[in-house]
Formats: sequence, structure tokens, C-alpha cells
Amino acid sequence: MTNKENSDLDKKYYLQAFKRYPITLARGQGSHVWDVEGNEYIDALGGIAVNALGHNHPDLVKSLQEQLSRLIHVSNFYLSEAQVKLSEKLVQLSALERVFITNSGAESVEGAIKIARKYAHSIGRGGEVISFTGAFHGRTLASLAATGKKQMQKGFDPMPGGFKQIPFNDIEAARNAISKETAAFIIEPIQGEGGIHLADRDFLHALRKLCNEHNIVLIFDEIQCGMGRTGKMFAHEHTGVKPDIMTLAKALGGGVPMGSILSSEKVSSAIDFGDHGTTFGGNPLACTAGLATLEAIEKEDLLSRAGKKGNWLKNKINTLQLPGFKEFRGKGLMIGVEFEFGTKPLVAKMLEKGVLVNSTADTVLRMLPALNIPQEDLEKVIEVLIESLNELKTHD
Ligand SMILES: Cc1ncc(COP(=O)(O)O)c(C=O)c1O
Repeated sequence: MTNKENSDLDKKYYLQAFKRYPITLARGQGSHVWDVEGNEYIDALGGIAVNALGHNHPDLVKSLQEQLSRLIHVSNFYLSEAQVKLSEKLVQLSALERVFITNSGAESVEGAIKIARKYAHSIGRGGEVISFTGAFHGRTLASLAATGKKQMQKGFDPMPGGFKQIPFNDIEAARNAISKETAAFIIEPIQGEGGIHLADRDFLHALRKLCNEHNIVLIFDEIQCGMGRTGKMFAHEHTGVKPDIMTLAKALGGGVPMGSILSSEKVSSAIDFGDHGTTFGGNPLACTAGLATLEAIEKEDLLSRAGKKGNWLKNKINTLQLPGFKEFRGKGLMIGVEFEFGTKPLVAKMLEKGVLVNSTADTVLRMLPALNIPQEDLEKVIEVLIESLNELKTHD
């Protein structure tokens, strides 16, 4: 079927919740993807920070193929070696002590909120969760309540109670927001959907101190910024501040849907048998993907490669004097370029020219390519960005 035929059928059958670009992707290799008509694109979006290893990575594919032919799924009533090994790996990498494997980011956030509330109640605190302006924590009801965006919540009330939002990077607001009801703060060390905004190092240190003083749980949502994207395995490592709970998803499975909640022994000890569960979460296929992805990130030195490539892009974009350019933000390969105008037409123009990127927070062009994206592809992305900006300018 052609791109157009697929688009027409999608419009007829699929819940119309996504405003899609009219291409149907059929195949991927490294940082390149092809649509059903054979058109080739450089993928600088990486499935929104999912395809950290690029497409069709040989180690990931081999591990999955082996696991597929042995065992796809078992109930969490039983163990699988893949789950045991992945849990051990996540604990070794994170310096947190307990793991729960989920199927998505929003599910990780939901579970993190449950663990934090159970712990808070066990020490006589309330269940309120405080998030920050510009946050994005997911689209399920509780994660949407934490996300706090009125525009996304509109029409879905009543929202679950026990959530409050305060200004990002404002320690006074955090101090003033605390009461006996406060169970947890949830924060992205680098906000993704909100437009690539970094939490200040000093702010995170001060927030950690506040949490310690009041025995409040500090949750870092590393669903987008984790798994090596910023040049460290987890973005908070740049700051030296450790969370009590960390949520992961996106790149964890290298493209296989999965997430994880990591928590400290202290906080997770509040969870009893039967308090939480999942049917699919942590199944052998997903855990095999998780393990293979983390191993490839380590084996191929993708942390330092992401850091170097990110620095190259930062220097390049900061010196290019792009028309309408306002600010470069980001770390490693988590990149936001803010313009003086809405970036949707720019994204569409770049797609026309064979580069996949995305627009977030209206005026931000976001790039989240594979951590192993080749230098020549990055150069091509920049070339297409310049060309697209120039063409849009002449059309004005
Ligand atoms: C920081 C963050 N948290 C949570 C989510 C929700 O993840 P999912 O779409 O897998 O439910 C996202 C997704 O973009 C995210 O970026």
C-alpha cells in the first residue's frame, strides 16, 4: 500500500488522537528509516528517545530472536532469568535497590506514586504529590494529574486528587508547598515534552535536602532523559543528587515497550505482597530487550559518544546564526532548539527533505537521535535544518 492509502485507512479506523505526518514507515537500519514507497529518512527523533541503539541493532535483534524461540511470556507468579538479570543490572547501574518492571512510562509513574504514597502513609504523612510547571509524566489519569497541564486535562475531569504543581527550579515555592500532606516531589531532571529545560543543579541539591529534612520521597522521572541520552546513564548523575525513586521507560527496551520503577530499600519496604502487580510487565521478551540495550550502551561506549556528539551539535547550532534562533538547550543527545516562531512548519519542511525531528512546547525543535548516530548523519541534519529555515524564510 502507498503512504496515502495507509493514511486514509488510519483516518478511517484508528482513534483520531494523533495528528500524524502522512508517511508509513516500513523498515529501519541504524539511524535511517524507509517508508512504504522507498523514501529514505534520517531519524533524528528516535521514536521520541526510544531507539537509543538506532534501528535493527544486531545484538538487540539477536538476543530477541533467541528469546522469542525459547520463551515469550510467563506470569509474574514465576521467575524468568531475563527478569532476574535485568533487575540486577538496573540496581548495579542506578545505585537504587529495588526494581519493578512495567510496560510504559505512564505505568512507571503510576507505580512510583503508589510506592511513594504507601511509604508516606507508613510514616504518618499524607499522600500529596507535588510536580513542577512544564512537567510531563504521562497520559493516564494519575500521571496526567501530575503532568498538570490544564489543556491536556480538559474534558477528562474529575482528575484524581492529591496533586499540586509549583514553579520549576523555585526552591522557595517547594519549601512553601510542603505540609504534613506531602508524600513526594516528582521531577524530570531534564524536562522533555516541556521544551528541554534543565533542572538547576543547586535547586536539585536543595530539593534533596528539603526531602531529607521532612522525610519526603524524591522521585526522578528519567523516562526521557535516562538510559545514556545525556552522556551519563541517568541524567541526575550530572548533578550528584540521588532520588528515592526513579522511573524509566522509552529507551530501556531499545524499542520493545517496557519501563521500570527503581526505588530505595527504605521506600520500597512499605510495599507488601499484593500491593502492586502487572500481567505483562517484566516478561522475558521485554527484559531480554532491556538487558541487551543496556549492555550495548556500555559495550559501545555510547555514554561518551552521546556526550561528544551533543557537544558538537551545541557548538554548531550556537555558531550558525540560524534565522529566528533564540536558544540551544540540552545535554548530550537530548536537544531543544528554541526559535522565535512555532516550529511545526519547520518540522514538516525537514520531513519533506528526509529528516525526522519534532516540535514541542510550540517553539522548540527537538532532536533525540540514536546515541550511535553517525557524524555524517548529524551533518546532514544540520544541512537540512539550514536549508529548511532559509526556504521557510523566503516563503514568508
Ligand atoms: C518524562 C516522561 N515521563 C513519562 C512519559 C510517559 O511515557 P509513556 O508515553 O511511555 O506512557 C513520558 C513520555 O513522553 C515522558 O517524557
